[in-house]
Amino acid sequence: MSERVLMAPSILSADFTRLGESIALVPTADFIHVDVMDGHFVPNLTIGPPVIKALKRTTDIPLDVHLMITNAEDSVQWYLEAGADIVTVHAEACPHLHRVVQTIRAAGAKASVSLNPGTPVSVLRDVLCDLDMVLLMSVNPGFGGQKFIANTVRKTAELVSLSKELGAAPLIQIDGGIDADTAPLVVAAGARVLVAGSAVFCKDEPAEALESIRSAGQGALQRLA
Ligand code: DX5
Ligand code: ZN
Repeated sequence: MSERVLMAPSILSADFTRLGESIALVPTADFIHVDVMDGHFVPNLTIGPPVIKALKRTTDIPLDVHLMITNAEDSVQWYLEAGADIVTVHAEACPHLHRVVQTIRAAGAKASVSLNPGTPVSVLRDVLCDLDMVLLMSVNPGFGGQKFIANTVRKTAELVSLSKELGAAPLIQIDGGIDADTAPLVVAAGARVLVAGSAVFCKDEPAEALESIRSAGQGALQRLA
């Protein structure tokens, strides 16, 4: 099998009193997705650099840090120093998007940009060749457990075609409402990294839940081959 669907469980839906143990429940995760919310860009407030630094000590799985914050250009260094392996910033919150992408890469981390459901993929045209990953939000960011927005499938295909036109090859990550039913839809459209929060950590067996979502996505890849 040439390509593998990568899984990034979101600890937003994990037990915040024992995050280290929660991460240990999903040993086959490819990335640990960490949702940073500031109460300004999104109507919720979560965790910041000290917690990321602590998580880094508990796991070797790369930390995939999703910054839903307004001042990423000023504070991205905090997350890089805390040990983020992948840093995602929101295009809507970064007037100097090109600069912040360069800052992330210069620190040796992978650079990723996220788009809200209402933001077109065309805003990425001038940075796409510099990105390791693009995160398409399939819910409006702020909370776990929301319903998948179906337009994300068309949007994913559009991003694949823009990437081809520009000769770019970013990983495409989808975040929000991903489970074993929605995973095949986005993988068939071109996504290769799936974030899942409630569909993993709200289940009795998070490891099994994670692998069943991966395997639903992987099935879609096989049908494409
Ligand atoms: C939402 C966050 C997501 C969230 C996804 O704003 O960015 O990462 O944890 O949760 P589920 O998978 O429950 O939709
Ligand atoms: Zn997220």
